[in-house]
Amino acid sequence: MEKSFKAMVVSEAGNKQYRREIVQRRIRDLPEGDVLVKVYYSSLNYKDALSASGNKGVTRKYPHTPGIDAAGIVEESTDSAFKIGDKVIVTSYDLGMNTAGGFGQYIRVPAGWVVPLPDGLSLRQAMCYGTAGFTAALSILQLVNHGVLPEYGEILVSGATGGVGSIAVSILAKQGYTVAAVNGRTDRSDYLKSIGAQRIIAIEDAVDTSGRPILSQRWAGGIDAVGGDILATTIKSMNAKGVVTTCGNVASPDLPINVYPFILRGVTLVGIDSQNCPMAVRRNAWDKLSKEWQITQMETVVEEVTLNELDNRIDKMLTGGNKGRVIVHMQS
Ligand SMILES: NC(=O)c1ccc[n+]([C@@H]2O[C@H](COP(=O)([O-])OP(=O)(O)OC[C@H]3O[C@@H](n4cnc5c(N)ncnc54)[C@H](OP(=O)(O)O)[C@@H]3O)[C@@H](O)[C@H]2O)c1
Repeated sequence: MEKSFKAMVVSEAGNKQYRREIVQRRIRDLPEGDVLVKVYYSSLNYKDALSASGNKGVTRKYPHTPGIDAAGIVEESTDSAFKIGDKVIVTSYDLGMNTAGGFGQYIRVPAGWVVPLPDGLSLRQAMCYGTAGFTAALSILQLVNHGVLPEYGEILVSGATGGVGSIAVSILAKQGYTVAAVNGRTDRSDYLKSIGAQRIIAIEDAVDTSGRPILSQRWAGGIDAVGGDILATTIKSMNAKGVVTTCGNVASPDLPINVYPFILRGVTLVGIDSQNCPMAVRRNAWDKLSKEWQITQMETVVEEVTLNELDNRIDKMLTGGNKGRVIVHMQS
């Protein structure tokens, strides 16, 4: 008998409404691909919440199974790089966007999307990081590669209570950086301190309203996941030769600044694109997450849910109020 499996399917319900259901799918319903993976864990990222609510900038066609993250075991492979039983991570590329994603118990993907699970990480631990943690790692790699050392001063992390921000705060603190964390709209000061933030910055204090093109120097580095006025204020407040990374736009895609921080202080703004990150960089980031950057207090950051419990976590992510990372046990 043909194998069937559980998956979340999002469909258009008319009047711009979208319906999420957990349904049975068949392996043959999956797209063509080199590697069939039985998914043990997935995780919830902001992009999944957009895909699961009908955002056509992320997912063009419905019905669709979201989930940009998956960790599991290879069940079939036509590519010699992977064999049955291999433990693997699949994130980014088109997974969960227009290719059926990790909110299904099986995925089938091109071999070029698959990363062998590094020694030192379980499938569950890999999804505790997921795309959010991977993106935090890429952002920190940029600070390190640009020569920002812990003794240069404080690093400001925005969106710090969320997935990317929580992992960034935790890794930076572990690496000896002094972290100032922008609290989200909900008060999470105790949580941010518990994961390593030394200073909590209220949103109002992270946004300059004076309109000045450049501000007093405060930060040696910045990791931004929100965009808009917070990112603009961070850039204007950087020390000379400071480095800021930008990966997200939950507050706004706009960036209201001028060139002065760049031409008067030599500030560097680095864009982070986890989706199309080259495989060599990808493997290096995962390797670091499995070794010296591995977070010991991960259980403070993570909440585990089943596929049936995922629906309301998606809504919560869109309206605010989620904390840290949500991982999904796909075989429960
Ligand atoms: N470029 C890439 O490769 C890449 C990869 C991963 C993620 N991202 C992007 O990074 C962003 C964060 O992703 P995530 O998974 O960490 O999301 P998340 O878990 O939902 O976290 C979002 C964070 O932003 C805060 N926030 C939300 N709205 C805000 C506002 N208006 N002003 C200030 N802070 C606000 C939230 O705090 P409250 O809920 O308390 O407000 C929370 O701390 C998203 O835009 C995502 O698409 C990009």
